[in-house]
Amino acid sequence: MSDNSEPNGFQDDIPMPTPASHASSSDPLHQSRFLKACRLEPTDVTPVWLMRQAGRYMAEYRELRAKVSFLELCKNPDLATEVTVTAAERLGVDAAILFADILLILEPLGLDLEFAKGEGPVIHNPVRAASDVDRIRPMDDPAPLDYVYRAVRSIRSALPSHIPLIGFAGAPFTLACYAIEGGGSRHYETAKSFMYRDPGAWNALMERLVTATALYLNAQAAAGAQALQLFDSWVGNLSPEDYRRFVFPHMKRLIASLDPGTPVIHFGTDTGSLLELQRDAGGAVIGLDWRVELDQAWQRLGPGVGVQGNLDPIVLFAPIPEIKRQARRILDQAAGRPGHIFNLGHGILPTTPVDHVIALVEEVHSYQPRSLPQ
Ligand code: CP3
Repeated sequence: MSDNSEPNGFQDDIPMPTPASHASSSDPLHQSRFLKACRLEPTDVTPVWLMRQAGRYMAEYRELRAKVSFLELCKNPDLATEVTVTAAERLGVDAAILFADILLILEPLGLDLEFAKGEGPVIHNPVRAASDVDRIRPMDDPAPLDYVYRAVRSIRSALPSHIPLIGFAGAPFTLACYAIEGGGSRHYETAKSFMYRDPGAWNALMERLVTATALYLNAQAAAGAQALQLFDSWVGNLSPEDYRRFVFPHMKRLIASLDPGTPVIHFGTDTGSLLELQRDAGGAVIGLDWRVELDQAWQRLGPGVGVQGNLDPIVLFAPIPEIKRQARRILDQAAGRPGHIFNLGHGILPTTPVDHVIALVEEVHSYQPRSLPQ
């Protein structure tokens, strides 16, 4: 377990799925703004959706949460459908995102997950030693997360036929951080020292996470998700060199094992120094946070990928004219180039005013680029 071997020789262990969708060109989903942007095709206006668009900032969500716990909500396909569809309709966005959480996958792997009140997620039996990696159950069947696929099917049938549904998962680095730290962390010193101390055990853990996540995401696509987002929320804590060594091969293998017919959005925060590496790891669209200028980041990424982002979620607390000004600035930077999906640079915070969020979506939809792209 503690050899220093690089991850290799495992390319063939994930069966490649048959593409989930064979949408024809007249299919309203295929023709949706969001999926066109994922394919780098021009759209009438810039598509927009927002990370954490279903959440505590919305009164409808808080009402439901007064009756059921967060995990109960995630595990009840009818309630997950209600939350997902209500948020997308209320905001008038161009895509819905499955209501679930990146940490749900840790349960069938053998980790004891709790969303403790006021504390955020806690894992009661974290991975701390190389021997703990052996108790992470290899996932060879996506069935334990069946409630998620049932939610996907139910949401898909409840959504209007032109609104795509985004499925998602945590990226292996971010999941490994939670599994090792046992919860959130500021510096990830427990996870990173594990990685430095025992690269063999780290790679073994990452490989299990990759295999499980590939099965999970492909099952979401097969159940009816039109796109898949990978959340690598904490990867910006790594230097480029450490990303290259400890994360890149795993991300590359994961993305290469996903249904080729379903576009992948590869998102991380604080990734200004990692963008080219993230692009090389894969994804049709790279998600940007607000610490980078969208035009400069897109130039670095090159013409082959789309970009998603990147308004600072805290701007939503500003007066509406300031929100609109900052949204237009981002849209000016994209300048109508095909492949921009408007979003925040990270999730909406729970105290965000809903009317500000709606005003943002309206502003994006009313925007026309000043000059056509060359
Ligand atoms: O609307 C959507 O975006 C879809 C649903 C969604 C949730 N979590 C619901 C949720 C998505 C895509 C996530 C992703 C997620 N979960 C990430 C990656 C994105 C990011 O924010 O970086 C992460 C790191 C998690 C882990 C997680 N889940 C944390 C740290 C917390 C606690 C945060 C908090 O503000 O309390 C959660 C809980 C969670 N996930 C909530 C929601 C709506 C709040 C739970 C509640 O109702 O109390």
